[in-house]
Amino acid sequence: MKIKIKDLELEIPILNASGPRCTTEKDLLDLEDSLSGAVVSKSCTLEKREGNKGKRYWDCETLSINSMGLPNLGFEFYGEMSKKVKKSYIISVGGLSLEDNVTILNHFLTLEKKVGIELNLSCPNVIGKGQLAYDFDCLEGYLTEIFQRVNISKFLAFGIKLPPYFELTHYVGVYMKISKFPIDFITCINSVGNGLVIDYEREKPVIEPKNGIGGLGGSIIKPVGLSNVYNFKKLFPKMDIIGCGGIETGKDVFEYFLAGASAVQIGTQFHKEGTGCFKRIYEEFLEIMKSKNYKSLSDIKTIP
Ligand code: SIN
Repeated sequence: MKIKIKDLELEIPILNASGPRCTTEKDLLDLEDSLSGAVVSKSCTLEKREGNKGKRYWDCETLSINSMGLPNLGFEFYGEMSKKVKKSYIISVGGLSLEDNVTILNHFLTLEKKVGIELNLSCPNVIGKGQLAYDFDCLEGYLTEIFQRVNISKFLAFGIKLPPYFELTHYVGVYMKISKFPIDFITCINSVGNGLVIDYEREKPVIEPKNGIGGLGGSIIKPVGLSNVYNFKKLFPKMDIIGCGGIETGKDVFEYFLAGASAVQIGTQFHKEGTGCFKRIYEEFLEIMKSKNYKSLSDIKTIP
């Protein structure tokens, strides 16, 4: 069940989310060997980063919290990996400044293999930095600079990863800022930022950086993810939206398609289950398609 977002071909519409298990060469080659519809890298910065210190990931059945702080091997490593990744490769870019992102993106244009880009505007965990996609005053100027200084149309596809929005007027606010640019896809949602999970027995937060504050994932955030996909699809009927947040089963994938997604990404469940999750979830999804006698994704109609 292939799909295409601009020139980016996805073997199946289920991919890994930039986050867990996509940092090292082994991670990326394991994804290459899996059924994930593409290989999506960890968000990369100009310099290699260790990320935040101490215990920085915790999960239970329905919830995860992380404050990783963008640990990654630096943008050049992810560019080099384009020689080894044979399937479609989406590099997540999370530079710490506009200048860094311009440098990183221009470098990726020089790679022999064409890549897709997901610009991460929504990491909640870098100490001292807010989430750009919540700063409506800066967002438009930032994207203007990116589109002026980088030949974005040369990427297989260019998308932005957004945080969750909770207020209906905010969707319109974001729409007003980003609809001016030829963006090929939106990925929503990143984790629900700045949550706090406390272990009452230890009388401490379950993670250590930022006094325990981190991004929430897992099945409890699925309704927020669905609503963000749905609300953005209403505003951008022609935009490809990659849904993310709380997907554990084929049924969850089907729900994201009903909300308006063209493809989905898996984060917390991939962290738990490893690359086998793509095959299992895809097979569950195909079973649902079969039970409804649907032959292709276009048979799934977005809810009104
Ligand atoms: C992290 O590395 O802190 C998570 C990445 C993200 O939320 O964008």
